Order: sequence, then C-alpha cells, then structure tokens
Amino acid sequence: MTGLLTNVEYRILKSICSGNPDCCSGSAYEGKSKLEILLGKEFLGKIQGKVVIDFGCGEGAEAIELAQRGARRVIGIDIREDILQRATEKAQATGLQGRCLFATSAAELADVVVSIDAFEHFADPAAVLNAIDGLLKPQGEVLASFGPTWYHPLGGHLFSVFPWAHLLFSEKALIRWRSDFKTDGATRFSEVEGGLNQMTIRRFEEVVSRSGFHFASMELVPIRKLRPFHNRRTREFTTAVVRCRLVKAGTSRG
Ligand SMILES: C[S@@+](CC[C@H](N)C(=O)[O-])C[C@H]1O[C@@H](n2cnc3c(N)ncnc32)[C@H](O)[C@@H]1O
Repeated sequence: MTGLLTNVEYRILKSICSGNPDCCSGSAYEGKSKLEILLGKEFLGKIQGKVVIDFGCGEGAEAIELAQRGARRVIGIDIREDILQRATEKAQATGLQGRCLFATSAAELADVVVSIDAFEHFADPAAVLNAIDGLLKPQGEVLASFGPTWYHPLGGHLFSVFPWAHLLFSEKALIRWRSDFKTDGATRFSEVEGGLNQMTIRRFEEVVSRSGFHFASMELVPIRKLRPFHNRRTREFTTAVVRCRLVKAGTSRG
C-alpha cells in the first residue's frame, strides 16, 4: 500500500516538474552583495583587519568578498572537497591566495565566524556549533544568516516544487523524484549533496541553548507578502531568513 502511494506521489511530482527545478542557483543575489543584504552594511565594519572564518562557505564568493573588503585573512570552511577546490581557484584568480584560504578546518583562531545559508544544511548543527566554538577567540562572535527553514513555503529547497510540497509529499516519493536527475545516491533528505537537516527556528534555538554560545541578538525577517501575519505563533511558516549574533556563554551581549 505504501509502495503504491509512493508511486502515485512520484508520478504527480513528475508531472509537475520532470527535471531539475534549479531552484537554488542563487540568482537572487546576482550582481549584489549577499553579505550586505543578509548581514547589513554595518557588518563590514566588524571585519576590518580581522581573521574571519566563513563556515559552510560553498564556492567561496562571500569569503573572497570578505577578504576584498577588509578582512586580514579569511578561511572558508566546507566539507565538500570539490567546491573547496573551485573556491581556491577563484581566490587565486583574484590574486587573494594567502589572504583567502579554503579547507575543511582552520589552523588559526578567528575574531569573527560568519555562516551564510548553511545552518539548515549541517547534518549535526550542534557539532558544528561546537567546532565553531573551538575556532573562535574568547571575545569573538558568530554572525549567522540562514533560511529558508523547514516550514517556510520553500523550506524543502529543491523539494519544494510548489509551496510546502516538501511537507505534503512523502520523503520516499520526493527522493525518488530527485533521483531521476541527481546522481549522488541520496536515500534521505539528510543525504542530499550539501545536506538538508529540516531545521526549524525552534530547533535552532534549542541547539544554541545547549551550545557554548548564547544569542546576543536574533532577528526573524518575515516573508515580505506575509509580513502582516508574521508573529510568534506563525513564525515557522512566515519567516524568510533567520539572522543572529552569537557570543560565547559567559561573555557580554553588547
Ligand atoms: C547552501 S550552501 C551555502 C554556501 C555559501 N555559504 C553561500 O551562501 O552560497 C551550504 C554549504 O554548507 C556546506 N556544509 C554542509 N555541512 C557542512 C559541515 N558539516 N561543515 C562545513 N560545511 C558544511 C555544504 O557543503 C554547502 O557548501
């Protein structure tokens, strides 16, 4: 019976979208500074002359921009060797080698750790926060911006073939549909390339509360069209971006 249902769901998904929906191309930021849009212009003041780690750096565009805009050194960290290689080549092409490095970890402590659009991808966000704690100077800070979170209309990322599709269809059917155009062999959401951890706002708060950090600030940016309905009860469904500043527990929030 489950197999039959999965089959029906798969066929519906296939009829809605038969190929790679290419939803995550990042084209919304084409020609703009994603860092400025997500973290605000004033953020650039914090990185002048500082050692910055970009955790979950992807292909390195933001790490390179951080180095170009005043950081003393930037280390982009990711788990995927192929994109670290591409990021390194980009940094070399911009003449930043030495000031902008890419690796799976860092050998030096950072003044600031940024993490952009990555907390909904880490398989073990608590372990990542723990790793960040170990890479950050005692008075350092983490600036994270991420989303969409799981209950956002497009929180399933590629699986959101229409708003909230990732909640309506079963994981099995969605994975089967995806396997027609992706070849990484993922059998669960968590196994897709780059990861997808079904992060919610509440879960993020819980993970932080159990970490070595506390929130110096947290902002939930509403989906523009849903702004009138955005409140504490609806936040999981109406938040576009989660933005926060974390400091080590025991340091001041200022
Ligand atoms: C959606 S991408 C965001 C990339 C980049 N920050 C950006 O804004 O374009 C999320 C990245 O997190 C990386 N990632 C996932 N799990 C990770 C982990 N445990 N440690 C480091 N990076 C990880 C993925 O490989 C992917 O490159």
